[in-house]
Amino acid sequence: MVADLLAIVRTIHLLAGVSWLGEVITINAVLLPVLFAAKREERLILLSAVFPRVFRLATVLGGLAVGTGLVLFLWSTRLQPLAAARSRWGELILAGGVLGAALFAFHLFQESGAEQSIAAHLAFTLDSDDPRETQRLLRRLAFFPRAGMLVLIAVIGMMTAAAHFL
Ligand code: HEM
Repeated sequence: MVADLLAIVRTIHLLAGVSWLGEVITINAVLLPVLFAAKREERLILLSAVFPRVFRLATVLGGLAVGTGLVLFLWSTRLQPLAAARSRWGELILAGGVLGAALFAFHLFQESGAEQSIAAHLAFTLDSDDPRETQRLLRRLAFFPRAGMLVLIAVIGMMTAAAHFL
């Protein structure tokens, strides 16, 4: 019974973590290029209608990945997470877990504020029609998903490597 529950939590963990990376790749490969190439009015629509939803999806997927990851880790270490640091498996899961949780915290507390203020600036600059300022703000907005993608690849790399030491 508990084993079945854990198998479900594990499946949710894998799906949420990998979907989060998939979302970030889609942002970088599809949404940002479209945003860069869009005309003023299209850009406003993207920023006000599409990006807030994308942001909320990342909150759900990241929250699920971190929450289920914590449950799995505490369960497998019998509530002694630090003792796990003595094994190669524990080291890798701990390192990946801390990195993943830090990225999620950054997403919640920092990125939301920074992104929203850049987006608000963008909407404002679009009104004043200054193309160079618009490009500068777009490049700043693009930094977050690019860095996030690299961090998520590193997290998944560590978690997958850990599986070899089970
Ligand atoms: C934040 C983004 C995260 C992503 C993308 C992610 C991704 C993954 C992936 C792909 C695996 C499967 C590895 C494999 O079997 O080959 C895994 C396993 C695991 N993750 Fe995460 N993870 C994340 C966060 C966390 C956190 C915060 C923790 C808590 C410390 C955690 C704990 C674990 C544990 C214990 C396993 C092993 C599960 C098992 O084999 O039963 N993860 N993770």
